Amino acid sequence: MSTPRRIRVWDWPVRLTHWALVVCVAGLYATGEYGLLTMRWHFWFGYATLTLVLFRIGWGFVGSEHARFSDFVRGPRKLYAYLRGTTPAPLGHNPLGALAVLAMLALLLAQAISGLFSNDEIEWYGPLSERISSVASERWTDWHHLGQQILLVVVALHVVAIAGYWLKRREDLLTPMLHGHKTRSDGADARWAAPWLAPTLFVLCAGAVALLVWWGPPPLAY
Ligand code: HEM
Ligand code: HEM
Repeated sequence: MSTPRRIRVWDWPVRLTHWALVVCVAGLYATGEYGLLTMRWHFWFGYATLTLVLFRIGWGFVGSEHARFSDFVRGPRKLYAYLRGTTPAPLGHNPLGALAVLAMLALLLAQAISGLFSNDEIEWYGPLSERISSVASERWTDWHHLGQQILLVVVALHVVAIAGYWLKRREDLLTPMLHGHKTRSDGADARWAAPWLAPTLFVLCAGAVALLVWWGPPPLAY
């Protein structure tokens, strides 16, 4: 077996998106659930979350090697083999972690979209909530309430699983998400995407969200 060496795994867009999402989601619960700051901040954190999630989904198709969905989304047979320990842990997300990644991205997307159509019946109306009937907006608000509870459970499981990998297997998943490298005796450095690609994709995603938010509300709302 060759000697362990530092291998490049997570590119900066994956890492930056992850920690920015953590900050935004904390801000969303602080403002939505605990009344810190104002709901204006909740909306801003929501728009940032929507941008980051759209970016991460796009990056899953055009990004660096281990950021791509094709690198880590696996069928049930590979998942079973991984769980039985008959295949080694891959460099990127393992097949079980991949399920959590997909679940979190889907929930974050659903939560941000439902927020756009939600309202608190007093002061705060999502930018698209007046495009639909008040009954429909009420239903979206119910989904928004339910979604935040499910998201909380999934994120808690995510953090417990990462702690579990360390405690049971001494497998450190956390620091690679900070500095981007893993120390392994197998595998090669990930193929990195062109440096201009991530900023370009980010600007496109932010532009799409801005269009939705500023051109979405009916003119009479102002
Ligand atoms: C991932 C993104 C989001 C998360 C995790 C989230 C989370 C939350 C939470 C925890 C609450 C409090 C719910 C409760 O009292 O039980 C809330 C309420 C609310 N959110 Fe969000 N939110 C997100 C995105 C958005 C967006 C993008 C908007 C609109 C631009 C939005 C608009 C609202 C509104 C209007 C309420 C008040 C509803 C009410 O309490 O009646 N949210 N959200
Ligand atoms: C709001 C909270 C969080 C959300 C929404 C979240 C979401 C995610 C997502 C979407 C990924 C996939 C990364 C990618 O491929 O782009 C991920 C991975 C990861 N997260 Fe989080 N995360 C949260 C909190 C945390 C916290 C608090 C930690 C620290 C313990 C953490 C540590 C990690 C690690 C180590 C990975 C990589 C797992 C692996 O190697 O497969 N996350 N997270």
